[in-house]
Amino acid sequence: MKDRISVEDLLSADHFERELRADVVKGFGSAQKSLPPKWFYDDEGSLLFERITGLPEYYPSRAEREILGDRAARIAETGARSLIELGSGSSEKTRILLDALHPEVYVPVDVSRGALEAAARGLSSAYPGLAVRAVVGDFQHDLRLPRFQAPRLLAFLGGTIGNLLPEQRERFLSDVRGLLEPGDALLVGADLVKDVPTLVAAYDDAEGVTAAFNKNVLKVLNRRLRADFDPEDFEHVARWDEDGERIEMRLRAVREVTAEFAELGLAVRFEKGEELLTETSAKFRPDGLRGELVRAGFEPRHWWTDAGARYGLCLAAVPPS
Ligand code: AVJ
Repeated sequence: MKDRISVEDLLSADHFERELRADVVKGFGSAQKSLPPKWFYDDEGSLLFERITGLPEYYPSRAEREILGDRAARIAETGARSLIELGSGSSEKTRILLDALHPEVYVPVDVSRGALEAAARGLSSAYPGLAVRAVVGDFQHDLRLPRFQAPRLLAFLGGTIGNLLPEQRERFLSDVRGLLEPGDALLVGADLVKDVPTLVAAYDDAEGVTAAFNKNVLKVLNRRLRADFDPEDFEHVARWDEDGERIEMRLRAVREVTAEFAELGLAVRFEKGEELLTETSAKFRPDGLRGELVRAGFEPRHWWTDAGARYGLCLAAVPPS
């Protein structure tokens, strides 16, 4: 029974500690202070994100689930025997794909070992014929995966591709292409450019869950680097960047703030009104995303949206080389 589950850890024991330190030194030392969004997701942050996906304002999760439900049969025509999912998190939408595909192997890849273990246990008991080969890994770094049974379907859902800047996306997509072979397929979900009030509301909900999610990153810094931020010193900001066609989340100092990272021997200072950029979430145009996939060596075969055309899902093939 147990051998249907395995968890492989690609990351060194101190990978995240070192990376967090480097991100803080670089991000807080820049004129525009910033931090990569991956540090949101400690246990508390992951729970807050789960709550975000159920908010009335946050349509992407529901829109993606709608498309997956409508198109699962077509996705299954890829005939994939392995399903690889990057940034799998709680693997909540995965069941739609597993029900349609019946793959032999499911390979969730995530930075959170806890989330992977929970998802692996849940899926393995729900799908008795399925082998779950979980991989603790960071898809922005070293994407070294064993060659699982071909053909493979690699899924990158949730709109997480929007967290990458254009140059990071180019590198990421070419890395993903390198993991796959002709006959394999890629499934990418992406949020679309739309009216600004809808976009901003999705990142600034009435209940304040997204604000709590954003501020939680300060608690992560307090705990992991012995910093002394008071989340009350900052307010949540969600804004649409017209030029970059992306939502930016920021934390704005409501007064002058000084904080210390005891673990780093580093002190930082915010002027009143100064902002820490905590996340960029790019929104896509169909031709833009398809073009990026083509440049990375994929052949987009299907482009689907939800009925409201708010969110897109692209199924792309890896053509014979
Ligand atoms: C998980 C990156 C897709 O950008 O919409 C949700 C994260 N941030 N609300 C997104 C998020 C604020 C989410 N992604």
